[in-house]
Amino acid sequence: MTAVNSLLCLLDFKREELERFIRNAFLMKDLYKVNAVPKKLSGKSVALIFEKPSTRTRVSMEVAINALGGHPIVLNKSDIQMSRGEPVEDTARVLGRMVSAIGARVLNHSTLEKLRDYSGVPVINLLSDLSHPLQALTDYMTIYEKLGRYETVAFVGDGSDNVLVSLMAFASVMGLRIKVASPKDFRPRPDIWKRIEEKAEETDAVIEFYEDPYEAVRGSRVVYTDVWVSMGQESMAEEKRKKLKEFRVTKDLMRYASSDAIFMHCLPAVRGEEVDAEVIDGPQSAVWDQAENRLYTALSVLSLLVK
Ligand code: CP
Ligand code: NVA
Repeated sequence: MTAVNSLLCLLDFKREELERFIRNAFLMKDLYKVNAVPKKLSGKSVALIFEKPSTRTRVSMEVAINALGGHPIVLNKSDIQMSRGEPVEDTARVLGRMVSAIGARVLNHSTLEKLRDYSGVPVINLLSDLSHPLQALTDYMTIYEKLGRYETVAFVGDGSDNVLVSLMAFASVMGLRIKVASPKDFRPRPDIWKRIEEKAEETDAVIEFYEDPYEAVRGSRVVYTDVWVSMGQESMAEEKRKKLKEFRVTKDLMRYASSDAIFMHCLPAVRGEEVDAEVIDGPQSAVWDQAENRLYTALSVLSLLVK
């Protein structure tokens, strides 16, 4: 389908390719519900490496690979020789000779690049310190499903968040608008931000930063947040909680959004921190449908990328 058979960053794809991932996810949703997913991975194995915990990503990938007729091999870091210092390059060379694709959730994004460069098989980013493309594809699928179009997202919280980076990448390829409410010192990593800005210029996408969450959320149909302390950031927890305390999604904040606004969160959530329980558990919350859609995105991406 595409010149790039790995999915490390949504910025590597063209608009038509991102649209195709989402269109195919809707098709997979229909097929999955009638047990008619094509067995495109029949006879193939896919390795799934996890350097960090996961619920949604691991389960959606395992179920998707099985539904496509393939065999998932889950490798938690402590199970494999990488934990004893075997180089990522060597791990990649060996896996590439035995499996048809590799999914990996990594501490450092550069591990994904090494897996891609040395394995010779498609590599799928299952979350890194930098980005989370499967999540953002799912999120825009869910926005389209609920609101009939790829609406502007108002993101409230950590402006350097990995999920936010992928939402920005999607928006910048597709020419969409994102409003981010975050303290000034929480911004995406400069290298990825440069790529996002360049792409946005090409497509007329608009990415705006606000320091007032009420201003960012005003009139929006999508209000999104993620945890303040991501996996691997435990040493920064206290500082982040202090700086982000005004950036919580509350019922009061939701009142400034459009009356038909949905609340989104990639999960896992910390109630009382980035979001109040009455919002995530309330009538505007889309988070459970959003989580379910991870499965159809996994089916879509695997069926298009793995040959
Ligand atoms: N949203 C998400 O990636 O969840 P997990 O960490 O449970 O995989
Ligand atoms: N930003 C979060 C996302 C979890 C799915 C983290 O990296 O921990």
